[in-house]
Amino acid sequence: MEPDKSTGVDALSALMRSRVMCRAFLSDEVDDDIVCEIVDLGTRAPSAGRSQGLHIVELTGADREKLWSTSLPGERRDAFAFQGLLRAPVLLTLFVDPGAYVERYAEQDKAHTGLGAGKEMWRTPFWFVDAGMLAMSMLLAAQAHGLGALFFALPHPEDEIRFLLGVPDHLETVGVMALGYRDLSDPQAHGAGRSATRPRRTAEDVIHRGQWTSPEA
Ligand SMILES: Cc1cc2nc3c(=O)[nH]c(=O)nc-3n(C[C@H](O)[C@H](O)[C@H](O)COP(=O)(O)O)c2cc1C
Repeated sequence: MEPDKSTGVDALSALMRSRVMCRAFLSDEVDDDIVCEIVDLGTRAPSAGRSQGLHIVELTGADREKLWSTSLPGERRDAFAFQGLLRAPVLLTLFVDPGAYVERYAEQDKAHTGLGAGKEMWRTPFWFVDAGMLAMSMLLAAQAHGLGALFFALPHPEDEIRFLLGVPDHLETVGVMALGYRDLSDPQAHGAGRSATRPRRTAEDVIHRGQWTSPEA
């Protein structure tokens, strides 16, 4: 079916251009159905060989609190730069299973790639590529639902947090997505992170036509 260009492109462009990370949330709960819909839209993201090795440990309420008190005990919590992030009612911790990719690529239709022989055969770890695609889809879905979201690194100490969440060793850490309603009274709700002043690169900055050209050329 031909996409309806007159509305689709404008709507997608507006959604993508308005999305910025949120680091200040209201503590208001987010409906479980909305969280599920966001994750469900995430699962529409492309995945190498449809291996789909992603797993999410969802933390709300006391579980979410346990993560923060493990990572930011005592005074460290008061000194944390993004106090409004601590209020995010939902934390989706993302992990990938490289073994799912190795197994998938050992199947008959992919055997010729040699990637089924082991994780070390993969020059590009597609499990992380897939995770990024899924995370981006979820960020856009959150934006479309009127929610704020932040993708951030799994807080330190990573091993302790993984243990707390019961994550098995064969899964690799991707990061965390905080979800919730933006606290509009706080500038940190609209992309005011430490990197926010860095200029965005344009298409012309990014594209090398025909072959690599150094930016100075
Ligand atoms: C892989 C990845 C890791 C990130 N880790 C963090 C993080 O640990 N803490 C944080 O505040 N922001 C983190 N960010 C958010 C970036 O700082 C942010 O996306 C970037 O500054 C661009 O801003 P925007 O997304 O609001 O447009 C991360 C983003 C990505 C894609």
